[in-house]
Amino acid sequence: MTDAALPGDPQQHVEPATLDDVQGWFWDHDRHSFDWFLGRQEKTGVTGDLLEMGAYLGRSAIVIGEHLQPGETFTVCDLFDSDAPDDENAAEMDYSYRKTLTRSAFETNYLAFHEELPEIIQAPTSVLAGGRIPAGAFRFIHIDASHLYEHVVGDLQVARVALRTQGVVVLDDYRAQHTPGVAAATWEAVFNHGLKPILLTECKFYGTWGDPEPFQRELLDGVDLAAGCRLSTDTVNGRQVLRMTGDSEGIAPFRGSRHQERSAAEAARRGDRQSAVDAHRPVPSDRDEAALDLAARRARAAEARRPVNVAKRAARDLLPPVVTAAIRRARRA
Ligand SMILES: C[S@@+](CC[C@H](N)C(=O)[O-])C[C@H]1O[C@@H](n2cnc3c(N)ncnc32)[C@H](O)[C@@H]1O
Repeated sequence: MTDAALPGDPQQHVEPATLDDVQGWFWDHDRHSFDWFLGRQEKTGVTGDLLEMGAYLGRSAIVIGEHLQPGETFTVCDLFDSDAPDDENAAEMDYSYRKTLTRSAFETNYLAFHEELPEIIQAPTSVLAGGRIPAGAFRFIHIDASHLYEHVVGDLQVARVALRTQGVVVLDDYRAQHTPGVAAATWEAVFNHGLKPILLTECKFYGTWGDPEPFQRELLDGVDLAAGCRLSTDTVNGRQVLRMTGDSEGIAPFRGSRHQERSAAEAARRGDRQSAVDAHRPVPSDRDEAALDLAARRARAAEARRPVNVAKRAARDLLPPVVTAAIRRARRA
């Protein structure tokens, strides 16, 4: 996050037509890098769950969700409309997110691009520690929640336990002037806790507790890299680090949402409607269809939040980690 919150009114949230309609802080080089790392894992047969800590209105979550493979789960953890766990975090929330952020707006945005919502944990990321999510089950984790040092240290500890050997962790705002806590926690993890840098972009740090070399070799070979993206190498304390710069013109835009598809279909159907009107046949308007479609998807999301389902999730959270892991394994099978 490199700017103050963008203006918006959560009460009047409309479905986005493109990813650029979703407010957030997720730019082309990082969208391309997320696609690159997640896509490379898929090509090389690396499977595992996906996790985002700090989703805001879904701009990066929508891109991560695009890579969800059968049998994998995508979990998003965010405070959304809930209270922050401490005063400093509450101040960060008030300053940057409160005016624009609701869980409902996140869900509307996400469902504009995907059939199903991810698993949503509406709570501080600290609840992820201590076995709430399974150890060694994740292939990709994006840390973009609180930017306070103590919180990011905790998020990194969660990621270290949760990631598989060749899993990738991404940290937002590892170098911004207004987020020194993220910088401190990131480089502390590198120097003291075995995190190996792979790639740096202007806003994000990409690393692994596995072997960074295969990633770096393919990046330097330009495998699947968009035209215009330039890579250079640096060395930090004897370890190679890549840096991505260049322009983003060669990065293909993200696909449109259902809303955009509907708009295109609307144009195509206009002719049909005219003929139907001519033939006195009633045809539902696009606005009705859009409203019905969103209502159906929101109903599915509401069902997931029904007390009985929430109670099931809560029970799961209270169970010892080993039982939770066994349930997840059974569900996957
Ligand atoms: C910078 S925004 C995330 C941006 C998003 N990843 C994107 O690309 O647009 C940070 C998010 O973290 C959430 N957040 C802040 N502190 C948190 C905490 N302690 N636990 C969970 N979420 C938190 C905020 O509600 C906000 O949605």
